[in-house]
Amino acid sequence: MPLLEIRNLTKVFPLGASMFGARAKGEVRAVDDISLDIHAGETLGLVGESGSGKSTLGRLALRLIEPSSGSLRFEDQDLVAASHREMRHLRRDMQIIFQDPFGSLDPRMNVEDIISEPLVIHEALSLTARRTRVSELLRAVGLDPSVLPRFPHEFSGGQRQRIGIARALALRPKFIVADEPVSALDVSVGAQIVNLLAHLQREFGLTYLFISHSMPVVRYLATRIAVMYRGTIVEVGDTQQITEQPQHPYTRSLLAATPEIAV
Ligand SMILES: Nc1ncnc2c1ncn2[C@@H]1O[C@H](COP(=O)(O)OP(=O)(O)O)[C@@H](O)[C@H]1O
Ligand SMILES: [Mg+2]
Repeated sequence: MPLLEIRNLTKVFPLGASMFGARAKGEVRAVDDISLDIHAGETLGLVGESGSGKSTLGRLALRLIEPSSGSLRFEDQDLVAASHREMRHLRRDMQIIFQDPFGSLDPRMNVEDIISEPLVIHEALSLTARRTRVSELLRAVGLDPSVLPRFPHEFSGGQRQRIGIARALALRPKFIVADEPVSALDVSVGAQIVNLLAHLQREFGLTYLFISHSMPVVRYLATRIAVMYRGTIVEVGDTQQITEQPQHPYTRSLLAATPEIAV
């Protein structure tokens, strides 16, 4: 049984809908009838050009947005039918890491508050226990606990991404959607973050949906790769199979467009 089972998932956005209630001029099928399994312990790489629907699929997979149709099962629970209360419980197991480590951290909160927030919401811990957990999380992502009182603007992009990762790990999730987590970073800093994600996966037994527009980044981390094009998955397979024997012309073009080594 897969950890996450995606069946016939579709998300339609209205196109050019007017503020004044005029009828929408058509629609975008951002995710168009996608079926996909994500297995416990794997890194499924999701690759495709900008606008192909990767972020929409990632958000749907966590039910951060509602599908237009289709089904989602997480550990055999129906995610689409889950009540608000059930979702609140499920949220602990499913987290997201964003591309922009600037925009995704509240600039008015210090590191301790940022990482503590999910713990405050979901776990009744004493202040001491919470601080211990936050310090452990910081160490796990390669930051010193002395940074607890500091604010996001005091950190580099790579450090900020580490803070975002610590926050995502706070509730010990099983499944993480990483949506272009290194795309805003310099190549060498991005490589460190990718290595950190690989290390954390082994340490915490995580399952990743790792989203990137870059085939070299995806192939470095992914055990399997799904290639997305205009709202559909055109090809999915083991990383070696996809990179050495791509079947779909679009996959070949993605491989041809990218240098051999970027991380
Ligand atoms: N909230 C939204 N409202 C309307 N259209 C959207 C919305 N989010 C995404 N889209 C459209 O859906 C398509 C896929 O977008 P997205 O999932 O962000 O692609 P990617 O992450 O691969 O760049 C694009 O055409 C985008 O403009
Ligand atoms: Mg995106």
